[in-house]
Amino acid sequence: MNDTSYLRFLERYPEYRDTATIDALRASDYSRLDQSGHTYLDYTGAGMYGESQVREHARVLASAAFGNPHSASRASITTTGLVEETRREVLAFFNATANYTAVFTLNATAALKLVGEAFPFGRGSRYLLTTDNHNSVNGIREFAAAKGAVVDYAPLTLPDLRIDRTELSHRLALADLSHANLFSFPAQSNFSGVKHPLEIVAEARAKKWSVLLDAAAFVPTSALDLSEIRPDFVAISFYKMFGYPTGVGCLLVRKDAWPLLDRPWFAGGTVNFATVQGRQHLLAPREAGFEDGTLNYLSIPAVTIGLRHLQRIGLKQIETRVRCLTSWLLEELLALKHSNGRHMVRLYGPASCEMRGGTITFNVYDPDGHLLDYRRIEELATGEGISLRTGCFCNPGAGETAEGLTEDDMMAGAAGGLDMNLPRFMQIIQHRGGKSAGAIRASLGLASNFTDVERLLRFVAGFRDETTLTLGAVTFDIESCRVIRDGA
Ligand SMILES: Cc1ncc(COP(=O)(O)O)c(C=O)c1O
Repeated sequence: MNDTSYLRFLERYPEYRDTATIDALRASDYSRLDQSGHTYLDYTGAGMYGESQVREHARVLASAAFGNPHSASRASITTTGLVEETRREVLAFFNATANYTAVFTLNATAALKLVGEAFPFGRGSRYLLTTDNHNSVNGIREFAAAKGAVVDYAPLTLPDLRIDRTELSHRLALADLSHANLFSFPAQSNFSGVKHPLEIVAEARAKKWSVLLDAAAFVPTSALDLSEIRPDFVAISFYKMFGYPTGVGCLLVRKDAWPLLDRPWFAGGTVNFATVQGRQHLLAPREAGFEDGTLNYLSIPAVTIGLRHLQRIGLKQIETRVRCLTSWLLEELLALKHSNGRHMVRLYGPASCEMRGGTITFNVYDPDGHLLDYRRIEELATGEGISLRTGCFCNPGAGETAEGLTEDDMMAGAAGGLDMNLPRFMQIIQHRGGKSAGAIRASLGLASNFTDVERLLRFVAGFRDETTLTLGAVTFDIESCRVIRDGA
């Protein structure tokens, strides 16, 4: 570690010292990162688990015989006991015990799909969503459109990629209140790291919309209190919060929103009664009617372990640490310059930590303002033991806004048919005004430390005066571009 920069960092962010217990934890519970020289910077992709979580889970599994929960055997009752304990822990964690039910799912995507397919869209109703959304939220528009609902997107403002509140209010006012209307947005962007204002939930509810909050990228580093913020539905993936287990997510449903949902099918485990001859079924109430087939019952107890792990560390401490490191990384990336004085890095999203989390999306440019190939940069980072993410992160709307891509640009890509992919799309838009698509994402989380950030900074600084990685004809005039913040 460079001691001078660490001292500068501590001077600027003295509160980082208060998070020293995480340094101790990194050395004990996450030692595999440093032992293997790995700089992990994809916490928005997946959280990192502590080794103690895995040991604790193995201990639970070894302590009893667990069977399929759908019966009354001893093995089944033991399983059900742990699953229900986890359900209670999840609700308590989000301060949701009084008003919500937790439905276990495979991941956040499956939770979102449960709402999409069961929401009573119809002619006259609307599905409103923010342009900044993961594709698993965008995809709900297919259910809405198939049932005749209007699909509407609320735009983002530039350069910070925040929700345009005036436009949103205008669109929320368009609902026909005699029909069911659903509004969906992410508490935190998986593209820009923006934390969208949670008071939008109350605004939409006051205008009689049902609200689906995608909390997948928010809850790993921020507290969500569902006694205060009261969306109808919340989607979560647990591996994003604490790394382990994978394969378990959750849909939180506000109790008074249940009557709205209308499941389009039934499955094993979801019915109280079903007949073949009578072609009838009676769906089990609440979560039981939405948990298709056999739950991932051996992994679910590891969620309790993960939640307690987060609670022991403390979300406040995690948030402080991620904020200090993210602020420093932003400042230092934006200060990087080529010998000719031009900025090296173009940032997508806010340049300060005000209402933003630890996800930083950027591109690197050569001294003439030509985009450097981010795919090659990812390969080089991998060679250096740095795990980043590149591409558009399943969030096309935020990417299109950030890059100034128009509907025509995107339709030109769609016209390419099934063979279309990001490299081919890049070629197409190079001929449409020198635009680009895709970027590099570095995201921080619970086990991040100053060394991780420094290693990334040194790696990016290594592209000073670099010209050999320039991507074809894609150019970016860093002086004249008003669309995206360039670090100035
Ligand atoms: C904001 C957001 N929503 C939803 C998802 C989907 O999560 P999963 O792939 O676990 O279903 C992700 C995953 O990256 C995400 O970042």
